[in-house]
Amino acid sequence: MDEQAPQGAHKARRHVPVLLEEAMQYLRILPGGTYVDATLGLGGHSTAIARLLGPEGHLIAFDRDPQAIERAEARFAALQEELQEQMPRITIHAEAFAEMASRVEPQSIDGILADFGVSSLQLDTAGRGFSFQADAPLDMRMDTRSGATAEQVVNQLNEEDLANLIYEFGEERRSRRIARAIVRARPVTTTAQLARIVAGNAPTIKSDRIHPATRVFQALRIYVNGELDQIASLLELAPTLLRPAGRMVAISFHSLEDRIVKDAFREGKTGGTWRVLTPKPLTAREEEIRNNPRARSAKLRAAERMEPGKVKERPGGKQEKILRRSWAQFATRSQVEQVRAGLVPTHLSGERTACSARHPSLPSSTSLARETREA
Ligand SMILES: C[S@@+](CC[C@H](N)C(=O)[O-])C[C@H]1O[C@@H](n2cnc3c(N)ncnc32)[C@H](O)[C@@H]1O
Repeated sequence: MDEQAPQGAHKARRHVPVLLEEAMQYLRILPGGTYVDATLGLGGHSTAIARLLGPEGHLIAFDRDPQAIERAEARFAALQEELQEQMPRITIHAEAFAEMASRVEPQSIDGILADFGVSSLQLDTAGRGFSFQADAPLDMRMDTRSGATAEQVVNQLNEEDLANLIYEFGEERRSRRIARAIVRARPVTTTAQLARIVAGNAPTIKSDRIHPATRVFQALRIYVNGELDQIASLLELAPTLLRPAGRMVAISFHSLEDRIVKDAFREGKTGGTWRVLTPKPLTAREEEIRNNPRARSAKLRAAERMEPGKVKERPGGKQEKILRRSWAQFATRSQVEQVRAGLVPTHLSGERTACSARHPSLPSSTSLARETREA
């Protein structure tokens, strides 16, 4: 189970980047290189990368949470004071990392880091609705500027879709019972109300160390933010953006995330795209877990981009097509045209959004938001 998920008993945490040493070791920062931090968060990993880059280096960071970016910017300002002329160039994009292809040129990057999931800032800010420790409106959007909230999801999905969502993204076997109870209790508007409904209908299992609502909160968060599709998109894009020998380091916090990374690296290895550097995922050492319980479920996987010449992909495969097109062509076509031309996988185009790609019966959270606006 995701240690980042609201456990209902956590205290406000100091943000500590997870598996920092290991991430730096596998990214193998080259001074003067160009690196992407796909999940800037509070800038813990980014700060470490920036320290190693030197003045010729460039760090490009993404986060779709405007609050996180504000905090990270303050941290970079302090780092600038400290490093002075040793500070690398830093570019921040307040966007989802699946949009990276429109910001980063193909084969221009030496390393990509992704530290998936929610940040301690998101979990600990009651008003964001990620945690049931404090009562708050059910929001759970990482990007507070758009998209359906968890409140819209629990009140608008039909019972079957809600049960499927809880089962798939929360790995909760009592999903049908929980969905029925939620539908009966509508309208459900706050984190505490939802936690009470779940606890009342799916009591704690003795062998479980977690609050019964933890899995439901995880499921809603994943759905609201389209997290699994975002990860799949990033793993599809990464080989096209990395230079040969560039590296990808991914830190996951639950099996649903880790499986996507593992499968993408394994397929890439077979196709000659990736050289896998971690045959088994790295986990945190006891000492790190003692100091930062969030590290307990973290798994780090790393891979290196093989020379494109060595790509054993099927002729005309998606990655080969993207690599063959020039950046200018890629950037100026509309997304629809790109999809028709086979340049962009359909799930990056907005045609299939959020979780609908994995679960065709579920409406996407984006369409849910649109329906609510139009109603
Ligand atoms: C676990 S935190 C990263 C912490 C960061 N490594 C640090 O050391 O401070 C994950 C961050 O990634 C962001 N995030 C998650 N999914 C994202 C996505 N698809 N696109 C952009 N940002 C995302 C979240 O908003 C959150 O701030």
